[in-house]
Amino acid sequence: MKSSRSSSYRQRTSSPLWPSPPSSSLTIKLLFAFFFLAIGFGLGIIKGHHIKSSTVSRSSSSSSSSLNLPAPPVKKAKPMIEARAGFKRYMKPTDIMHGMSDGELFWKASMVPRIKKLPYHWFPKIAFLFLTKGEIPLAPLWDKFFKGHGGLYSIYVHSDPLFNGSVPIGSVFYGRRIRSKKTRWGHVNMMDAEIRLLANALLDFTNERFILLSESHIPLFNFSTVYSYLMGPTIYIESYNNMPGPTGRIHYRNKMGPVIRPEHWRKGSQWFDMDRKLALEVISDEKYYPEFRKHCKLCVAHEHYLPTMLNINRWRNVENRSLTWMNWSKNEYQPARFSGDEVTIEFLKKLRHGRSCKYNSMETRVCFLFARKFLPNCLGRLLELSPIILGFG
Ligand SMILES: *[C@@H]1O[C@H](CO)[C@@H](O)[C@H](O)[C@H]1NC(C)=O
Ligand SMILES: *[C@@H]1O[C@H](CO)[C@@H](O)[C@H](O)[C@H]1NC(C)=O
Ligand SMILES: *[C@@H]1O[C@H](CO)[C@@H](O)[C@H](O)[C@H]1NC(C)=O
Ligand SMILES: *[C@@H]1O[C@H](CO)[C@@H](O)[C@H](O)[C@H]1NC(C)=O
Repeated sequence: MKSSRSSSYRQRTSSPLWPSPPSSSLTIKLLFAFFFLAIGFGLGIIKGHHIKSSTVSRSSSSSSSSLNLPAPPVKKAKPMIEARAGFKRYMKPTDIMHGMSDGELFWKASMVPRIKKLPYHWFPKIAFLFLTKGEIPLAPLWDKFFKGHGGLYSIYVHSDPLFNGSVPIGSVFYGRRIRSKKTRWGHVNMMDAEIRLLANALLDFTNERFILLSESHIPLFNFSTVYSYLMGPTIYIESYNNMPGPTGRIHYRNKMGPVIRPEHWRKGSQWFDMDRKLALEVISDEKYYPEFRKHCKLCVAHEHYLPTMLNINRWRNVENRSLTWMNWSKNEYQPARFSGDEVTIEFLKKLRHGRSCKYNSMETRVCFLFARKFLPNCLGRLLELSPIILGFG
């Protein structure tokens, strides 16, 4: 096992640097062979050491699947200190505002290593994908939420391309904006934006979970709880079959017919939580998503594509709920917005523990990790109450 891994590593790294020697004399060939042997031997020793240390560290962070909440705190990560510069850059590209087109980005992001275990000490990260218009008014709350957990999360922000506001240098959102395109509610380009966020986050091989959020989202628990909650085998995507009634499948388009049939059609909250496996499936879907782009331009793809695709593919380990709390009862078409005077201790307590649901087949009262829609004027109250109720700040 060890020797096959180090030899494949050697092939990959050495081929561009050391082209096969020109067919001159035998001595040169022999010299090359000896040289490779020596390098290979050295690498074998170094890698053997890293493999041992990575097995130890990995097991300590993945044992939370049988968790009964509230979750235990998470050890602070020492992110990949041993990785050499070139490899580190490959694992986690530094230029988030890269020049790739969508086509180039999706192709690159669809690459999957066949060796599952990384050759370095690492902790899985959560990618927080913020789909926004412009400002993130509640950023100071998120700054407090993420504080002290560097190495366990990454942030990606997709905002209107015309947005020209700035982000303070100390904020977790600083420098996290990705190349974005115009989006419109209900238009398929909103789903495009979500897929663009996923693809950018996939470029970092240490991102394991992918959560979609907006500028009006707030966290309902501290980072340790959120992290532990999400490190199990389950992903969270709501899906329901809204067939009964005349408006049942109002957004279904017959032209999708042969590929996506009416009985496949599902609806659910846009606010997903998924793992790497599903994120890869989504960004490289050449069968179902093109049907949406062709025939479902204005049919609210962002509420139908994921649940429908999961339904067709009979995706497993999906918990049928969103982790984002919303209140739909004020208005049928828009969830309720909350302003500062509505943010009380009682209200936040209700959002955190007001419902029961299944978590890894056990009953829990922690069903939502996030909530929306909170207006900018909630910031003061939230900052004041978060240390008392939300467990951070
Ligand atoms: C930002 O955009 C607004 C219009 O959306 C414009 O009025 C303003 O001048 C721009 N600011 C800068 C610094 O470019
Ligand atoms: C996070 O919250 C949980 C309870 O919800 C608490 O047990 C834990 O100590 C908190 N972690 C930190 C780092 O504050
Ligand atoms: C998901 O839950 C809803 C109720 O919230 C239910 O109507 C629907 O059938 C469930 N979907 C699946 C796939 O179990
Ligand atoms: C949602 O809002 C309505 C109207 O304001 C309220 O009566 C209801 O209790 C709220 N639902 C939840 C689950 O908070």
